[in-house]
Amino acid sequence: MSQEFSPIPSPETPVLPTDPLDHNVCLCFKVSIRKMQHFIEREKPKVPSQLSQCLDAGTGCRWCVPFLCKMHRQWTAGESMDLAVSPEEYAERRGAYKRAGVKHDPLTEQPTPPINP
Ligand code: FES
Repeated sequence: MSQEFSPIPSPETPVLPTDPLDHNVCLCFKVSIRKMQHFIEREKPKVPSQLSQCLDAGTGCRWCVPFLCKMHRQWTAGESMDLAVSPEEYAERRGAYKRAGVKHDPLTEQPTPPINP
């Protein structure tokens, strides 16, 4: 009996899921948009920082924090939660953010404040 194996993707070229909700909003902790949406609907967080209780989202490199805040704002306003950026661009911009060493808010391009000023 022969089996067909799919090629193993290179770490440099990750395979992205086809359903947009399965794309990760937090790349450090692999928290998908779907997981975050379910967390928000279930827990009804009062402030965006509570989103970190969903699998530690936003507590790694902090790239996704402005996007988590945006998702919380959209939910609070009764809007659909949408990152408004393709997963490829999102990952690419996060890579640049990590390589730069200088942290900038990915939505405003302004330097991010330190966690504990
Ligand atoms: S991408 Fe969410 S903490 Fe790094």
